[in-house]
Order: sequence, then C-alpha cells, then structure tokens
Amino acid sequence: MRRESVDRTNTFTPTTEKKSRGDIPALIPSYEEAKKQARDYYNKICGDQESLSLQADKMNPWFEKAIRELIGLKRMNLFTTFGDTLLSPGKHNIKNRFLKKVYKQAADDSVLYFQLRDNGKNVKIDELNQPLAYLRNEAHLYLENINLKKTIQLHPEEFVLRFLTTLGLSDYAEVFFQKGEHAIDIIPEIILKEGGLGKLIWTMAGVIMYKLEKLQSLDKSPECITELLDAIEAGYNFGLTYPLVDDVLDSSHVLNDDEKTQYSSLVYSALQRGFINEKDVPGHPIALELKKAFDVLTELYPFEKNRDLYRALTNLHLAQIEEADRDFNKTYSDQDIYAPVIIKAAYTRIVTALMAGLDVTSEFVSKMMMAGLPTQLIDDFRDYPSDIKTGHFTPFTYYAHAHKRQTGFTNPMLLYLASLNKIIGSHNNDQQVGRLLSRRFTQAVKQFSIYNGTENIKGFYDVFLPENPYIRKSITKIARYKESILDVEGGLISCMIDYSIERKKTKSGLSDHFVRTKKLVEENLEIAHQSIEQDNKLVQSMNYSLMAGGKRWRPALGLMIADMYKIQEQKILPFILAIESAHTASLIFDDLPAQDDAKSRRDKLPNHLVFEEYTSQLSGISLIARAFEQLSILDFEPDNVNRVIRYCSELLGHNGLSLGQQLDLEAAQSNKPADLKEITKIFKHKTALAVEMSSVPVAILGDASEQEIAALKEYSYHLGLAFQVLDDFQDYGEGQVNNNDVQVNLNIISCIGETKARTMFFEAIANAKSSLEKINRNTELLLELVNHFASKMQ
Ligand code: IPE
Ligand code: IPE
Ligand code: MG
Ligand code: MG
Ligand code: MG
Repeated sequence: MRRESVDRTNTFTPTTEKKSRGDIPALIPSYEEAKKQARDYYNKICGDQESLSLQADKMNPWFEKAIRELIGLKRMNLFTTFGDTLLSPGKHNIKNRFLKKVYKQAADDSVLYFQLRDNGKNVKIDELNQPLAYLRNEAHLYLENINLKKTIQLHPEEFVLRFLTTLGLSDYAEVFFQKGEHAIDIIPEIILKEGGLGKLIWTMAGVIMYKLEKLQSLDKSPECITELLDAIEAGYNFGLTYPLVDDVLDSSHVLNDDEKTQYSSLVYSALQRGFINEKDVPGHPIALELKKAFDVLTELYPFEKNRDLYRALTNLHLAQIEEADRDFNKTYSDQDIYAPVIIKAAYTRIVTALMAGLDVTSEFVSKMMMAGLPTQLIDDFRDYPSDIKTGHFTPFTYYAHAHKRQTGFTNPMLLYLASLNKIIGSHNNDQQVGRLLSRRFTQAVKQFSIYNGTENIKGFYDVFLPENPYIRKSITKIARYKESILDVEGGLISCMIDYSIERKKTKSGLSDHFVRTKKLVEENLEIAHQSIEQDNKLVQSMNYSLMAGGKRWRPALGLMIADMYKIQEQKILPFILAIESAHTASLIFDDLPAQDDAKSRRDKLPNHLVFEEYTSQLSGISLIARAFEQLSILDFEPDNVNRVIRYCSELLGHNGLSLGQQLDLEAAQSNKPADLKEITKIFKHKTALAVEMSSVPVAILGDASEQEIAALKEYSYHLGLAFQVLDDFQDYGEGQVNNNDVQVNLNIISCIGETKARTMFFEAIANAKSSLEKINRNTELLLELVNHFASKMQ
C-alpha cells in the first residue's frame, strides 16, 4: 500500500517552534487547557441540582424497555424452536429466519450506535449516507448467507474482504491482509491476547468511517480510492500505536520500568518535534516498529502543516501517561481522575477525525468531550471484576478502594448512568438514542456477568449501587436474559483474539520448520573429502557454494510436502540434497561473467571470483550430476522414483530452467524491454519450475493423487512467480540493476514499473493461496510460506 516513497529528509524541517505561532489560535489546545475543558464538562454533569443518584435512576425506564425487548426475543426464540419441531424441520426453518432478522437488527443498531457515539448524530437507518448504506447492505447480505446452524463464527478474513469489496478496494485486499499479518508478527503475544489486533482493526475502521462521513458518496474514482487507501494507511499506523504504545506501557511483561520511561519520552519528543532520530531509538524491536509507523504518519501528515493533529496526539499520549501513573495509596480528586478519562476517549475520536480530514470544529471537540466519559466508563465497568483481581487502576477499582476508606470520591457507576441520561436529554429524550445507549449497556452487563458469574453481581451492587434498588433489579434481570443479548462487536473482538493468537502460533510453526530444515541440510549437504585428495579444488569449489549460507527454503518446502504425506525425514533426505545441489549449481552458472556477471552472492564472493572460472563451470556440472545420483538412491516405489528422475530432468533442462535462463539473457540483451507476457514466461521457467521441482516430486513419492499434484504445480507456479518478483524488487533496491553499461540484467521493475510489478506480485500471492484450497490435507505451513514471502514486499 505504500506508494512511491517520499524523500523523508524533505518531509519536515525540524525547527524550534516559532514565537509567532503562539498567536495563532489553534483548534486543539495544550494538554493543560484540554484538562480545564474536561474539568468544566465534568462539573457540568456533577454540578446539576439533582443528585447523581437521582439522575442515574432516570435511566431505569430505558433499561426496563430494553428488558422487555430481551424477554420478547427469548419468547420468540422458544416459540420458533418449538415451531420448527412441529412444522418445518429443515434448512430454511422458522428459527433461522427469525435469528437472521435479529442479527440484521443488531448490525443496524451497531451502525447507528457508532454514528451517535463518534459523530454525535442520531440518524435514522434510512438516512445513512451512501457509503454507510452500502456497508449496511453488505452486512445484511453476509448475515443472510451465514449458516446459523453452526455457532456464529465471523471469519475475519471473509468479513474484511467483503468490507473492502464494498468500498471498491478488493484489489488491495491482499495488501491489507499483509498489514494484518505484519501486525501479528510485531505485536507481542501477551498484547494480542488482550485484544491488540482488535484495537488496531477498530482504529482503522474508525478512520475509514470518518472518511466515509467526509466523502458522503463512493464513486470508486481514482481520487476516491486514493482517499480511502490513505485512510487505511493512516488508520493502520495510528492503530498500531494502541498495542505498541498504550498496551505496552500498561503491561508489565514487555518492557521494564527503565525501558518504559525511555519509550514514553521517545513518543513524547516525536510528537513535539515531528520526527524520530534513528539514534534515539532504543534497541527494543517494538521501538523500531513505532519509528516506522511514525515515519509513515509524518509522510502522510507533514508535521508543520498538521500541528493540530500532533497536538491532539500529544494530549492523547499525556492522558495515557497520567493514567499509567496512578497509585491506590494516593488520594485523588474527582477532576484528577476523570479529566484524563474524558480526554482519552474524546481525543481518540478527535485524532481519528483529523486523520480522515473531517472538518473538526470546536463544537465537534466539545461534543466528543461529552461522549467521552460514558464510553470509557462502560469499558471499565465491564472489566471491573478482572481489574480488581489484577490490581488495575480504574475509576471503578479506585472507588472500591476509596469506598472502603470513605474518601468521598465520586461513584463512577452513578456518573456513568447520569452521563447517559445527559446524552439522552441532549437529544430531547429521543427513543432511538435511549434504546441504543441502553442496548450498549446490556452488552456490557452480559460481558460483566459472563466474566463474573451472575451470583457475584451482588458484591458490585453493595459498593456501587447501594441506594438504587430499581437499577439493581434491572441489571439482575438483564443478566438473567443474557443469552438473548446480541453483541456483534464483542463477538468480533473475541474472534480477532482467537484469530491473532492462532496465526502467531502458526507463524512460529514456520520458523521452527525453517530451523529444522536448516539443521538437516547443513549437516548433510557438504561433500565429504575422504576418498578425494584434500586439495581437490573442484570439491572445495562445490562445497564453497553449497555451504555459503543459502536460505534453504526449497528444502523447507520439500520437507513440508514430506510431512503432508507422512514421509520420514531420513527417507526424503537424498531428495532434499538433490534439489539444493541443483539449485546451487544454477546459481553458480547464473553468476558467471557470461550470464549475470555477478559481483556478490549471498553476501560473499560468487564462486568464479574465488575459484577459476573453469572450476566454477565444472562445479556446476558436478553438482547437477550429484543431484541425479542422489535421486537415484531414493528408496521408494521404483516407478515413482523413475518418474521423479525424469520429471526433474525435464524441469532443469532445455524445456525448463535452462530455457528460462536462455530467454532471460536474450531478453536482457535485446534493446526493447520485455512485456508482462514474456516476463511471466521467463519467470516460470527460470524460477517457478525449480520451485515445482522442490514440491511436486515429493508428492509423487508420497503417492499423491493427480488432482493434488496439479494443485501443487499451480501453487509452485504462483509462489515461484511471486518469489522472483520479490527478488527483482530486492535487486532493484540494491542497485544491482543497470550496474553495467554493456549488459543490463532483466528486471521486472525496469520493464513494467513498480506499480504493475507489485500488482503482479500480490496476484501471484493470492493465487498461490487459493490453489491450496484444492488440497484436502494440512496445508497450514504451505500457506504460511506464502505469507512469509508476501510480508517481505514493502
Ligand atoms: C536465488 O534464490 C535465485 C532466484 C531464483 C532468484 P534464493 O534467494 O532462494 O537463493 P538462496 O539459496 O537463498 O541464496
Ligand atoms: C536467477 O534469477 C534464477 C536462477 C538462478 C535459475 P536472478 O538472476 O534474478 O537471481 P539472483 O538475483 O542472481 O539470485
Ligand atoms: Mg539471472
Ligand atoms: Mg543473477
Ligand atoms: Mg535477481
């Protein structure tokens, strides 16, 4: 998604702030000023004539309505189940129809709730703007088609794909997934378990939503696509800061105290100056990732032109820091505690809106201040049971402590309920607003009682609702009907957690597999000297290239297929040695002056610059001969072994890799650049067939069906193409192209340009993945290998 990279040295000029700037009234105030505003807002709720408790009680009629709805749902559920048993057991039964309707309603409610919370707007469902109406329609179609017999499993990939398709961004789906993959790579596991990926995706969704608000209509024009892509890019890099800054500073498992101090001052100074110096970045990998994210943000939003954005980010960060510093043994005033809570919630949205280019007015800022308190408090209410256990400081846990000590700190539960009442009041007691807010509350009660057990809610009442018997009764009832409470967002978030943890595990499965392969290959590949004189230059030259530090991914691929067909490592070993020998030979030839005339190979000198050129040629031939010798000693069904030998010679010879190299060199020496069709043909032969040679023969030896063999061929073809494009990108980046006046190496970027090459890459990646769907075996690692290469494309 990153387009042509901008020369970052020009993106900003680190200047000390000019005096005159102070005179220009900025929309976003300093942190101190923001705190003052937050305090004012806080006093407005609490300064009411009526006591908080009375205000809170006013929410009860809304809760009773919500309960009636839940009772209705439960009855319908029983009724439709009963109806099905009597009338129409089958696929399209009454219950299914009923549930689909309920889910659609829940999806609608979510859209409306976010409009209310993030835009302060109470829109009716038919008044959604065109892009949101599209998305709603998509969500309905999705729910229409899911199989409700299984428990609802919203598959993140499918969901995201639909979402992007609706926005006209399906071409970018693969790039989008790679971002997710990268995030899973870099977010520590402990943070993923706490929902790190969900927060990231949520933030991206937030920027996109605001962007849709800004665009008002989607015409799928290039300008519109660019705006959306920028929103995704910004949302991703901003979103990363939640797991990488907030969660990391909150957690005691990622950084120690010193590292935390260093890390947060890095964040602060970045936001003040608009850049991060390479030399200031501490060695921890997350700091490097943070720098990368910040660099992209300053590229998208140059510092000097977007001071409000960086001020807003600073306020967000300072509120976070202030909150991280809390201590149960200290005494805090209401304003001390609640002002940063308000700022955090409000500025999350203000930053998001600024990134989407929404016209952020001071009215918007104060609206968000108002919405901020309850959104933050509802999360703290929900997490109260676990926060008490872990000693996490929130207004709720502090109140529980203060309550014991009778310090008179304001009760956050009453404050929450009173601020809901205020919001409903500010919308003239609108029915929809009341319904949406109380529905949100029922979801929190559901999660609360799931974490806490319904019986234990009583302990909570004693502390937080001693004088509110009606609300207590309502909450008890809501908890009793929790099965009828639908929580689409909660479901999505727990889905994200499972998904990200699962992905992280599979990824470490791939690196384990690489370690195992490397060990096996390095221990066995070298040619022993015993029967040959020690100074035999030919063997030295062969061993030089065999042991020069290849990545060994072809053998890794071969071993994955062996695992799939339950072939023992030792049994397949000769084959593994054969393919790595043949591959090494191809590299020795490829580097020769007559071919690419390479000056380095695997960060070392190429074979012909260490040995005589004639020795290199003879090494190459000997390595091919050795490959066939190894193939011939394979201990499998003789027919299969013969088929493999013949197959490999075809893949290497004049219809295979050699032809590929021939065409490559011819194209490089001709005057006109090759087109996509020619390039594909060259890549297929010079690279993809060697990938095929690492995979398909193992399947043949494992008695695979012809259908599986065909699918593996397809997989290898696409993976090979992707790999060669990636290699060309790397060569291009390293300036290994056009480095010779006489002979220019063939490189896809020089021929068709970066954009088309990237498109071809991601198409190949997507095709490689989908070819795996035709194999009815465990192809997890094969998929992971594709992801591994995909993640290497910037
Ligand atoms: C290099 O392959 C040759 C190409 C097909 C581009 P690798 O990059 O896999 O080579 P090593 O074995 O890991 O060095
Ligand atoms: C080489 O392609 C493919 C084979 C060796 C068969 P390249 O010429 O791009 O490989 P590198 O970049 O030298 O590794
Ligand atoms: Mg070459
Ligand atoms: Mg080369
Ligand atoms: Mg190359």
